[in-house]
Amino acid sequence: MLLSNFRIPANFSIIVPGDKSVSHRSVLFSSLAKGESLITGFLEAEDPLNTMKSFSKLGVQFTKAGEGQYKVSSPGKSGLKTPLSELDFGNGGTGIRLSAGLLSGLVGVNTQLTGDASLRKRPMKRIIDPLTLMGADIVSISGDGRAPLKVTGKKLNFIKYKSPIASAQVKSCLMLAAIASDVELEFEEDELSRDHTENMLKFLGGNIEHFTKTHFKIKPPFSFSGAEFKVPGDISSAAFFIVFGLLSKSGTILIKNVGLNPARTGILTVLRSMGGRIDVENEKSECGEIIGDLRVYPSQLKKAEITSDLIPSIIDEIPILTIAGLFSENGFEIKNAEDLRAKESDRIHSMVFNLRKIGVKVEEAKAALFCKFVKTVEL
Ligand code: S3P
Repeated sequence: MLLSNFRIPANFSIIVPGDKSVSHRSVLFSSLAKGESLITGFLEAEDPLNTMKSFSKLGVQFTKAGEGQYKVSSPGKSGLKTPLSELDFGNGGTGIRLSAGLLSGLVGVNTQLTGDASLRKRPMKRIIDPLTLMGADIVSISGDGRAPLKVTGKKLNFIKYKSPIASAQVKSCLMLAAIASDVELEFEEDELSRDHTENMLKFLGGNIEHFTKTHFKIKPPFSFSGAEFKVPGDISSAAFFIVFGLLSKSGTILIKNVGLNPARTGILTVLRSMGGRIDVENEKSECGEIIGDLRVYPSQLKKAEITSDLIPSIIDEIPILTIAGLFSENGFEIKNAEDLRAKESDRIHSMVFNLRKIGVKVEEAKAALFCKFVKTVEL
């Protein structure tokens, strides 16, 4: 079903805000790199800005040079200093988990990492356990495996780690710990989670050897010089306009300069398998990432199977995908998405709660969400 009231004007194009995952990583890698860097396209939202503020407390200078543009001057990883106060990551799970890794491997740097009430409820054991295996001194102050975390930076050891969850935050945390401490790391996950950290490491000339798509080793030395980090548009933000474009009655939407990392484009795979037409134009590679423009056409959607290997690549887009599912023939079903309950909010429960409010028949299982329609939703 298409939204009969929505017609997109001719030549309609938009640019979405910078990618949040790449924005965090641009702060972390420009802090590790000695010298001057430039970040463009940075997402000036609370989470990445909190990561930036935290690293400025460690002695890195970030100077705003324009919208989304920052000049960075860093003494390099060996010049980072113990901050005078705790580091507050606000609501940013990526900020705290990735930074905790990096800081664990910085010899002589002692920090306390915290966040808002919601972040202090989120699981940190997933990083504390493997970091401890690397020899890190990282403690949950309240003893419940949650933030605040006290980190005493040390020289870490090599580990070979098979992650029980496909989480880019866990993977990147360990990679940054190894990078900060100049030790090898061998890492494996069952499904490929977003690989921006691997790409940025390669972009800076770091040594990474892949055994398979999901199994690799990184090897020191990890000494980087300043670079230009170009942050592409966030496909997670684009996802809302993609769904809007597919459900519109007429016209197309062109979304320019979107990050199209294959570990993030599960949303395109799923929507295409549901019958959506989304074309990629002007594809190119920049700073180790694939980027391009997306042209979205009105399309009749139908139910499609979402296999579990796709979950890591749609983890942040499941809520908007469910909305697309509301307008597809025969409903929508998603399984194996239990980690959605450990996000800023329990995203499965929030979807179920709100869908029921608008009259949709929904079933909720531990790791799943099934929407079956009593009647098609009319907007
Ligand atoms: C992120 C990884 C994902 C994602 C989060 C950002 C990252 O979390 O949900 O919004 O930048 O590494 P998990 O790796 O925990 O699944």
